[in-house]
Amino acid sequence: MDKLTVRDFDASGKRVFVRVDFNVPLEDGKVTDDSRIRAAIPTIRHLVGQGARVILASHLGRPNGKVQDGLRLRPVAERLSLLLRQNVPVTGDALGMGTEDALKRLRPGEILLLENLRFHAEEEANDPAFAKVLASYADVYVNDAFGTAHRAHASTVGIAKLLPAYAGLLMERELASLSNLLESPERPFAAIVGGAKVSGKISVLENLVTKVDVLVVGGGMANTFLLAKGHPVGKSLAEPNMVDAAKRVMATAEARGARIVLPVDVIVAKEVTRGTEYKTLNAEKVPASWHIVDVGKASIANIEAALADARTVVWNGPLGVFEIPSFAHGTFEIARFLAARAEAGTTVVVGGGDSVAAIQQLGLADKMSHVSTGGGASLEFLEGQVLPGVEVLLDRPAGTVPGGAPPTAPEPAK
Ligand code: 3PG
Repeated sequence: MDKLTVRDFDASGKRVFVRVDFNVPLEDGKVTDDSRIRAAIPTIRHLVGQGARVILASHLGRPNGKVQDGLRLRPVAERLSLLLRQNVPVTGDALGMGTEDALKRLRPGEILLLENLRFHAEEEANDPAFAKVLASYADVYVNDAFGTAHRAHASTVGIAKLLPAYAGLLMERELASLSNLLESPERPFAAIVGGAKVSGKISVLENLVTKVDVLVVGGGMANTFLLAKGHPVGKSLAEPNMVDAAKRVMATAEARGARIVLPVDVIVAKEVTRGTEYKTLNAEKVPASWHIVDVGKASIANIEAALADARTVVWNGPLGVFEIPSFAHGTFEIARFLAARAEAGTTVVVGGGDSVAAIQQLGLADKMSHVSTGGGASLEFLEGQVLPGVEVLLDRPAGTVPGGAPPTAPEPAK
């Protein structure tokens, strides 16, 4: 999946449409986590530095084709302007005369942000006429929105079929880090998969178990694995209908000689709330009236021992209910352990929403080898799926290297 990138064409003077993922959390009209905005900056700077006219476009939230004032991109434009130290105006609409005028006025080295694309239902419908209007704004298309690459929308797929379509630098980094896991990880290779439910991540487990040397299962989904081994889990979150799937994952691991690490001790609580009574128990003996809410100290020691010589680790999903401080120990301890391993030279990739939130809460994101900006996109990638927004980008011609620009822009992909 070697794609041409922004380093493969000369952007000077060109109008470049850059799809970014500025779907960031907002509170009282302020951006509360600007990681996705920061992650797009290298591509924007690269293009501005070359003297391109940069047209940025993103969705924000799920307005379902209706204008919602709370989902306007102005707070994002303000944060981006601060980070770039360059004014980034935002249009009132992605379409219309005001936008066309602003585009005409855009000079080399300037940036314009289009208003939330999902105010138009045509965006998610991948409407050809909508994609055509977006394409008419630019000479070249760049996709730097890895987090949205699993969506086949007008701004991720439709437009890419109408213009020469390149990957941005963030997209390039995401694809390189995640492909490395699936294609050529340095071994031993370990995966830690946590989160609430097996059902949401069964395809990830099924794919990773065919590749890893060690598979650590934690969080709520480990309860289903405990059930599959015949251990009672009390009132814990578990999915009896996924027991067979868990058994299949364990059988694949055994057939390959890969090791599965399940909790051996757990924190159990009377209720899954703050301030409730809790204690540590053997994971095989959880009484009927208790909920498993975290891994215990022996489990953490086991995980750390299993990962001690790993050269590559991918982590997706927390090991307990880390939103409640008393049940955050397992997730936070593993986050600290992985940060230390990454500093010692192990490749550590963190993919997906909640585990990323945990490392950000601890201020450890910068220590990891790569922290994916994609939630759903990184999951689908780890499932082994080809993301539509990636597939449609121009393939690197055999024998060329990044930055060795072809003399003319190739034709758009059909
Ligand atoms: C995300 O936050 O995962 C991406 O921005 C995609 O958003 P969506 O799930 O609303 O398509």
